[in-house]
Amino acid sequence: MAGALFAGLCLILCCFLGGSLAAPSFTSEPGNVTAEVGGTALLEWQMNDDGASQLFEIWRKLPSAGLIQRASGGDAEPFAGYEGKFEIEGVATLKILNLNKEDAGQYEFQATYDDSTVLDSIATLIVSYQPTITDVTASPVPNVMEGDDLTLTCAADGVPAPTYTWTKSDGSPLGTAVADTAAGTLTFTNISRDATGSYTCSADNGVGDAQTQDIAVAVSYPTTAAPTTPTPNVTMKMTDAPTPAPSAEPEPTGGMKTSGKPGGRGRGAKPQKGGLGTGAIVGIVLGLLALFITIAVGAYCASKRFGPQQEKKPDVVTFTKAEENEAEPLKNKDPENPPEKLDDKDTSIIKNGEMEDVPLKNAEEA
Ligand SMILES: *[C@@H]1O[C@H](CO)[C@@H](O)[C@H](O)[C@H]1NC(C)=O
Ligand SMILES: *[C@@H]1O[C@H](CO)[C@@H](O)[C@H](O)[C@H]1NC(C)=O
Ligand SMILES: *[C@@H]1O[C@H](CO)[C@@H](O)[C@H](O)[C@H]1NC(C)=O
Repeated sequence: MAGALFAGLCLILCCFLGGSLAAPSFTSEPGNVTAEVGGTALLEWQMNDDGASQLFEIWRKLPSAGLIQRASGGDAEPFAGYEGKFEIEGVATLKILNLNKEDAGQYEFQATYDDSTVLDSIATLIVSYQPTITDVTASPVPNVMEGDDLTLTCAADGVPAPTYTWTKSDGSPLGTAVADTAAGTLTFTNISRDATGSYTCSADNGVGDAQTQDIAVAVSYPTTAAPTTPTPNVTMKMTDAPTPAPSAEPEPTGGMKTSGKPGGRGRGAKPQKGGLGTGAIVGIVLGLLALFITIAVGAYCASKRFGPQQEKKPDVVTFTKAEENEAEPLKNKDPENPPEKLDDKDTSIIKNGEMEDVPLKNAEEA
């Protein structure tokens, strides 16, 4: 009797406990899920129905949009526009296809049972993608004075957040510059002229290849010339512009290393190898040469064209007056002299072949 009573109590107790334990519950929830852009994400929920029947299930993207739903015993039905984007697999796994950045966010799964249980769970989808460097900046500016502070900052868009690496583009060491791999900064304090050069930022988050971008830094410094030293004597060539005394001022733009050579050739603002002056000289000499040749040819042609009297003269005059006219050419450039010394000029024309004005005038006057 006592045994039967105990068994009955146990049955009642078990029924009671069993009834309360039998409510449906999740056995697995997705939590945080990471998937790459362009790929597929699986948000996997599993439940223990424990005898209850599902009436309705719905998957939403928060804050509220319904994505796909399933009625008891039916097929999962995507909401309008979501066909091919969302599918249900297994017990209640939400499959999201062809991921893009906007798919990242929170997804809710809700299941309603016939015993009025409602299960609700939220998962987070992280859509990862390769970094894209959006900005590489120098603060205050990339061209600084020696002794200044300078911070380079690299910014990239990527998920997960990229880590940043700074290197000098030519491979030389960074010296005392301090890099912050999370913030993407490279900080110079009391920058030295050796810091001049190109710097490469690399952003990497494990998705795809690291991305890189360069930025140029120029550190200018005062020239080493002593400002009190008088300008050394420089042989003045015809193109040498008067050179101001070497300045102790730094290069204003700082774009290039300053040469620091005192009394260098001309054109103070552009210390480029001194090649400018030489080039100018050559250019002018060539130009003058070309001018002389042109004039000479012109003169020759003119003499040909206006010719008969010119043609008979030269041979006669040439040898008689050539010697004493050696000194004459300079005067020939004087426009006031020609009329009274026609013969002399004819001589020098033939002798030198380069007296420009004369032949034409002779021809006109003849
Ligand atoms: C999901 O990620 C958030 C933020 O990164 C974190 O706080 C949370 O603990 C994560 N949850 C799980 C279940 O991993
Ligand atoms: C900056 O660097 C120069 C050269 O290395 C050094 O002489 C100077 O004392 C430094 N200045 C400061 C404030 O650290
Ligand atoms: C430049 O020439 C002057 C006059 O010839 C001379 O007195 C002076 O010492 C020279 N200066 C230099 C730097 O050679």
